[in-house]
Amino acid sequence: MCFLMPLLHHVLLLGLLLLLSLYTPASSTIADALSPGHALVGGDRLVSNNRKFALGFFKPSSDTNHNSYLGIWFNKVPKLTPLWTANGDNPVVDPTSPELAISGDGNLVILDHATKSIVWSTHANVTTNDTVAVLLNSGNLVLKSSSNSSEIFWQSFDYPTDTLFAGAKIGWDKVTSLNRRLVSRKNSIDQAPGIYSLELRLSGDGYLLWNSTVPYRSSGDWNGRYFGLAPEMIGVVMPNFTFVHSDKEAYFTYTLHDDTAIVHTGIDVFGRGFAGMWLEGSQDWLIHYRQPVLYCDVYAICGPFTICDDSKDPFCDCMKGFHIRSPKDWELDDRTGGCTRNTLLSCDNSKGMTGLTDKFYPVKSVRLPHNAENVQVATSEDECSQVCLNKCSCIAYSYGKGGCFVWHDELYNVKQLSDDSSGGNGEVLYIRLAAKELESSDTKKSGKLIGVAIGASTGGALFLMILLLIALRIKEKWFTYTLQRHEGGIGIKAFRYTDLQRATRNFSEKLGGGSFGSVFKGYLSDSTIAVKRLDGARQGEKQFRAEVNSVGIIQHINLVKLIGLCCEGDNRLLVYEYMPNNSLDVCLLEGNGIVLDWTIRYQIAIGIARGLAYLHNSCRDCIIHCDIKPENILLDASYVSKIADFGMAKILEREFSHAMTTMRGTIGYLAPEWISGTVVTSKVDVYSYGMVLFEIILGRRNSSHQNFRDSDCSFFFPLHAARNLLNGDIESLVDANLKGGINLVEVERACKIACWCIQDHEFDRPTMGEVVQYLEGLLELDMPPLPRLLNAVTGGSHLATPQYFESL
Ligand SMILES: *[C@@H]1O[C@H](CO)[C@@H](O)[C@H](O)[C@H]1NC(C)=O
Ligand SMILES: *[C@@H]1O[C@H](CO)[C@@H](O)[C@H](O)[C@H]1NC(C)=O
Ligand SMILES: *[C@@H]1O[C@H](CO)[C@@H](O)[C@H](O)[C@H]1NC(C)=O
Ligand SMILES: *[C@@H]1O[C@H](CO)[C@@H](O)[C@H](O)[C@H]1NC(C)=O
Ligand SMILES: *[C@@H]1O[C@H](CO)[C@@H](O)[C@H](O)[C@H]1NC(C)=O
Repeated sequence: MCFLMPLLHHVLLLGLLLLLSLYTPASSTIADALSPGHALVGGDRLVSNNRKFALGFFKPSSDTNHNSYLGIWFNKVPKLTPLWTANGDNPVVDPTSPELAISGDGNLVILDHATKSIVWSTHANVTTNDTVAVLLNSGNLVLKSSSNSSEIFWQSFDYPTDTLFAGAKIGWDKVTSLNRRLVSRKNSIDQAPGIYSLELRLSGDGYLLWNSTVPYRSSGDWNGRYFGLAPEMIGVVMPNFTFVHSDKEAYFTYTLHDDTAIVHTGIDVFGRGFAGMWLEGSQDWLIHYRQPVLYCDVYAICGPFTICDDSKDPFCDCMKGFHIRSPKDWELDDRTGGCTRNTLLSCDNSKGMTGLTDKFYPVKSVRLPHNAENVQVATSEDECSQVCLNKCSCIAYSYGKGGCFVWHDELYNVKQLSDDSSGGNGEVLYIRLAAKELESSDTKKSGKLIGVAIGASTGGALFLMILLLIALRIKEKWFTYTLQRHEGGIGIKAFRYTDLQRATRNFSEKLGGGSFGSVFKGYLSDSTIAVKRLDGARQGEKQFRAEVNSVGIIQHINLVKLIGLCCEGDNRLLVYEYMPNNSLDVCLLEGNGIVLDWTIRYQIAIGIARGLAYLHNSCRDCIIHCDIKPENILLDASYVSKIADFGMAKILEREFSHAMTTMRGTIGYLAPEWISGTVVTSKVDVYSYGMVLFEIILGRRNSSHQNFRDSDCSFFFPLHAARNLLNGDIESLVDANLKGGINLVEVERACKIACWCIQDHEFDRPTMGEVVQYLEGLLELDMPPLPRLLNAVTGGSHLATPQYFESL
């Protein structure tokens, strides 16, 4: 046994340890309980009976850090992932070895031998000195009476750190006023509590909070089965959620149907809720859910006097005239200290024109900071700046359609909005700097700084109002968002390989194949599924992650639904709902004798457009599919179109600016900007959509020529259609196989839209949201110009397939 008497002399202890490690089989060190007279030291562990959890001392970083913490982690996960920490804000510092023991009063304590002090104690109201600490199968560490095991004095589940264990509660015990809340860790190494928390209010609403006061994300409402936020947050392995709201308690909890699943859910150092699962096959965590997805949507993530920009790496930067307050913390991902002034403000405007007065520097196109004061007496920009200048505590102002706003003390939560992403909603923030700051770097502009005209918009003012409301802590519901989910769809299920082998009858019924693997039909007891088996260990892994990361977190009627996954050894499989009508290419384009009538085609076109619009806009961040083509459009039993294959999809997070230029997609549907190698936007999907829309109208491949022998290979439908549109000849564009039921208005509309979608310059193409409105007839369309590049590369008018594409 490795439990040593605490009173043994150090040398003896060391010698004994050596002896023990030499002579004791490893398995004998495994126990799940610590009783009086024994102690846990060094590398000793308590391991739960089911071997899932371990408790012991750990060091988050072996090289630079000398702090030891007592914690609980997954026993089988080699990547150290603390789930609970006892002494986060009071670590034991090397070189002494801390010790965990039951003290004389029956409490569980951590002793520091160097300082001979108690570093941490359960501080429970123990009524007997005969206690025992047990690490339960759930990961809960309990201190209980050894004679009466239902008498529990203390449990770690009541004092969570940043992780919500399955079976643990988050929320209130209203009788004892115990509030179980998750608190982020200070940084990636320091286990001290950070500034972000995830908690339930007494009313039962869940929030992500900054400094326990400012909410920046709500859980949404409990709908009887899950919170708006929670199902995704914990939405893995189909958990069972429970929410209890009574006079005595208000809490949320979940249980796993499969106890062996290794699921990690909680709040990360950046203040984002997350859920992930350990993939045995890849020996890594797969974080399939994060909220907020964008760093800059976490309140004050960069601390005071910073500008947050998700498209940059690092995403935090100091404002002009400021420098990082604590570079060391900053390096460890703790940016909450923010930035500090290079030069103190002179705060003396009596000197007037002498040049020593503080000056204002414009920060353009930003989301304004929190905690503004509205100055109604100031009715012009000059007055607004003067009001600020006259007060020493005033550090910034902004003047827009909402009037004059000034800020005092500190500026938090300023986000850089790019011109296109904000839709002109960004405001100009004028920050007050010592005159010297501006002279030293930019003498030319400083004279004109105050006079810069502001193009503030109502949207920006509205946003400011919202921030003000947050500041006032009015009970709010605006960040509650609705989830688009269909019935039964919460969470992704982890399948065993053998189960999928059985379901697919050993992968016998192949539905299709692609460059990344094959798709097989499978049967579960209650449904039919499509199982995609990804080939090639490394490429497969990449596709697998891309797909789970994007399709796993989104749900829409026009997007194929991911039901589950399997990751065992080298096997990577994805499980989808089964689509009886196959894909658009099989159903429509390949001459299988099926002629879809016009109404169905038009519905298919609208469905794809809605799915893409959702990906680009409505879902919480922008996802570009990157490979829209008929093969990736599936049709369900009633021909509702569903976009599939997110293996190339890109979530536009921070990395987008440099990750987006590698070639993706399928020749023939690729937008020109792919080829030119510039950064691409969601407009590449619009282009591909246009090409697919032409094929839907035509009922064949755009460049198929088998039916056009007379025009000898010179047929490329998009150009043909564009020309005929300009000539007013619509009827010739209709698929000759269609018999009746053709709506010429819709045909013309569809052709125009398709033609706008394939314009050379992305700016000329509509957004998918606009496409939906055009298709629904809610917006009118102008006549599109001929896509010049296509026209040019196809040699004017006569070429079968554009060489421009074939040369790729
Ligand atoms: C400990 O128990 C005593 C007596 O039962 C009670 O008065 C006291 O509030 C308890 N303290 C805590 C921290 O529960
Ligand atoms: C518990 O307390 C009694 C007296 O109060 C003492 O005799 C006994 O040794 C203690 N037991 C332990 C395990 O400390
Ligand atoms: C064991 O503890 C429970 C809870 O404190 C108590 O209700 C029960 O009476 C105790 N049983 C014995 C035999 O002391
Ligand atoms: C957080 O809140 C506390 C008390 O509400 C306050 O004293 C402290 O200054 C706040 N911290 C920051 C960084 O604003
Ligand atoms: C769900 O959890 C609740 C409470 O933890 C439990 O009573 C219920 O039996 C569970 N249901 C299923 C299907 O596991």
